[in-house]
Amino acid sequence: MEYAVKANEKTKASEIIKKILPEKPFEKFSEHATCFAPSNIALIKYWGKRNEELNLPNTSSLSITLPNKGTRTSIKVNKLNNDQVIFNGELLDQNNKFYLRLKKYLDLFRDNKKIFFDITTDNNIPTAAGLASSASGFAALVMCLNQLFSWNLSNERLSILARLGSGSACRSFWPGFVEWSMGERDDGLDSFGELIFHEKPWPELRLGLLIFSPHEKPMGSTEAMINTVKTSKLYKHWPEKVKQDLIKIRKAIDKQDFIALGEVTEQNSIAMHETMLTSEPSINYAIPETVKTKEKIWELRKTNNIPIYFTQDAGPNLKLIFLEQDELEIKKAFPNLETVNLF
Ligand code: PMV
Repeated sequence: MEYAVKANEKTKASEIIKKILPEKPFEKFSEHATCFAPSNIALIKYWGKRNEELNLPNTSSLSITLPNKGTRTSIKVNKLNNDQVIFNGELLDQNNKFYLRLKKYLDLFRDNKKIFFDITTDNNIPTAAGLASSASGFAALVMCLNQLFSWNLSNERLSILARLGSGSACRSFWPGFVEWSMGERDDGLDSFGELIFHEKPWPELRLGLLIFSPHEKPMGSTEAMINTVKTSKLYKHWPEKVKQDLIKIRKAIDKQDFIALGEVTEQNSIAMHETMLTSEPSINYAIPETVKTKEKIWELRKTNNIPIYFTQDAGPNLKLIFLEQDELEIKKAFPNLETVNLF
């Protein structure tokens, strides 16, 4: 088998990369490469890893891609002895957390070879506020490397490479609905994103971003996942809940049944946050605006009969899902809402 790695052998991220890249990956390169990768929002969430180094999840998950929101990255090989990163217009210090995360990821590819990069990367979404900027960031970086060195890798393989930087990044290579299969293999070569229901675009579907706080979250998703899996008494129910929710959401997408889609999306997000809240110590990403807005959404549904649902990731901000026909009414209720057309 092309990618054979013995089962039950703990595989390192650098070994996986070696298997995926061509034999002499850095031999020839073009002057520079520029790529845009979109962000994605999970409707059925990934929360918990079966392998922390490879970002292999305990469950599958399903997302929707935000076509124009994401990361634009340019990369070229430099003649220095270190990487240089300009992030949102600012040259990063070599002790910066984000710089170190990028460098560590690039080291996996370099495998001790002395090749360094100038990287310019810009997000048009707030960084680290639960709006999946690390997903688009790692996806854009992998796309750039693929282009710069003419590796000609498929999206499936790029998805595996991006997962090693940030799990949710593996869903950022396609438009529309994407399912990340948890896979079974220890090396994770069967765990990547896949475009689903592409024959059924849903042009009326809208996603709205409600940003209360553009600041960095108090706890990164990796640490929060590890703590939840270790200490939450509710976590044992999570994998089965996700399995059932995936069945429901696939059916809802197939029939374009918006109410069913909204209900399962919101319920899944609530369950994930309840599971985190019952960790010890408790993990809480909500701020007062998060709670107030959820109540307002429930009120709009109940009293005004407006089908609108929310989902929340590892941050205080909310993403709302609704249909085009209700957009005006919803904008009246949430004047700061930034609407994204999904198809
Ligand atoms: O990929 P990470 O480590 O940024 O984790 C993403 C976690 C959630 O956004 C909460 C869920 C998801 O599936 O995107």
